[in-house]
Amino acid sequence: MKFFLDTADLDEIAEAASWGALAGVTTNPTLYSRIGGKLSGFHDHIARICELVDGPVSAESVAMTRDEIIRDGRELAAIAPNVVVKVPTMVEGLAATRVLADEGIPVNMTLCFTVPQAILAARAGARYISPFVGRFDDISEDGIAQLDDVVTAIGNYDFAGDTANGEKLEIIAASIRSANHVAQAALMGADIATVPFGILKKCVQHPLTDRGLDAFMKDWEKVQSA
Ligand code: E4P
Repeated sequence: MKFFLDTADLDEIAEAASWGALAGVTTNPTLYSRIGGKLSGFHDHIARICELVDGPVSAESVAMTRDEIIRDGRELAAIAPNVVVKVPTMVEGLAATRVLADEGIPVNMTLCFTVPQAILAARAGARYISPFVGRFDDISEDGIAQLDDVVTAIGNYDFAGDTANGEKLEIIAASIRSANHVAQAALMGADIATVPFGILKKCVQHPLTDRGLDAFMKDWEKVQSA
């Protein structure tokens, strides 16, 4: 499983990229708004993220009609070669995805919650599908079970003929709220987990690692003074 960072924060992206395990970034309108982003600076901001990360960077279209999403998608894709156009899972989004995929522009279909949505997104040519985990948990449903269903259903078929440039369709476990979500996503074989920076930090940590490191340091002090 690959790690993407779910943020629009440049400092977080630069820091995570320096750890050597970052494979991409996903952004959305909420994440861009959270860093105080302005409409006029959006394309430049995406360009800066694309320079920081060696991998796909999802930039979301906020248009609601297929023609507008297609126009947005072409503009976003022109920012940098590693831009992936993020498109909501809805009728207009599916129609736009088909056109963009046929032009060779990779699409990440977002706000995906069910197996039928995921299959439709795949058949419409999505390069990535983002099933949301945490938002199911937020309404007291089992987001991991829903993700598992999507991973199983997508794994039953070959979508290579549907995606932009015939590339492998990949599932991004999204709306991740904990390191346990990350573990469950990996165990079921999700291709990617996109995680907030705070969760990525928690993925590195374990109390036994801290305790073991502390003991090693104390014992090494004894060696030095022996
Ligand atoms: C996916 O790409 C989304 O940006 C994200 O994972 C949504 O997560 P949230 O439910 O924490 O907003």
